[in-house]
Amino acid sequence: MKTVENIKELRTQVKSWRMQGLTIAFVPTMGNLHQGHLSLVKAAHKYADKVIASIFVNPMQFGANEDIDSYPRTLEQDQEQLVSVNTDLLFLPTPATIYPKGTDDNAYVEVPNISALHCGASRPGHFRGVATVVCKLFNIVQPDVACFGTKDYQQLQVIKTMIEDLSMSVDIVPVETIREESGLAMSSRNGYLTAKEKTTAPVLYQTLQWLSEQLHKGQQTIDFTALITQASDRLAQAGLKTDYINICHAKTLETAVLDDKEMVILAAAYLGKARLIDNLPVSL
Ligand code: PAF
Repeated sequence: MKTVENIKELRTQVKSWRMQGLTIAFVPTMGNLHQGHLSLVKAAHKYADKVIASIFVNPMQFGANEDIDSYPRTLEQDQEQLVSVNTDLLFLPTPATIYPKGTDDNAYVEVPNISALHCGASRPGHFRGVATVVCKLFNIVQPDVACFGTKDYQQLQVIKTMIEDLSMSVDIVPVETIREESGLAMSSRNGYLTAKEKTTAPVLYQTLQWLSEQLHKGQQTIDFTALITQASDRLAQAGLKTDYINICHAKTLETAVLDDKEMVILAAAYLGKARLIDNLPVSL
């Protein structure tokens, strides 16, 4: 696997592959890779001849009081893992390469409405940071396809909306969440959990499953607000503090209405030092 730090070198390699008629799939990451990331690379191989992964802890998507400094950085292990799934190239830019003028004076991409909901309400500016860096990385790599995990369901919808709104020509491949045996969705931030908290954390997914069952039992008669309060109580009993639990339209992520058929339950909760997110699509 070749590791490339600057844009010029990356473009030279991409151009050479293009001249050979090869297609390119892209897997953007922030590193501290786990099985979820590796499943993205494995999926990427099915869609193109060459797979490029990137590792860049994007300062623009972290708020002032968030965990950018403590965000786990494990480059050597990440490189080994990427080699184990036959990644062809790792793009490893520095912040100065991506934001030569810093993040404040940089042009940005804002996907309206959807970016302000859910995680966007708790983390103002987060999705502007995500959309901007993903747009920049797409412009640098110019992939045919890019793979994203459905664990970050809202992120995936923000990126799909950006692609549609800006007529970008990258095909987005959603890849299913990889879970621990306990049901806990794999995430780099799970590393913040103590051993004891790790046994509690699966309650988040269990609560989403319970909510989904309630919706299947009787959507027409259900009071969503009451259901969400009960779900939040379940989390509290286990020691998780709800950030939000919302039952939404699967695409717009606006609050679902009673006759919606394609929905998704989105949730975020705090446990110790970790903020966990998870989701469960519900098709009625
Ligand atoms: O999902 C992530 O790891 C990040 O948000 C992404 C898409 C790599 C952008 O920084």
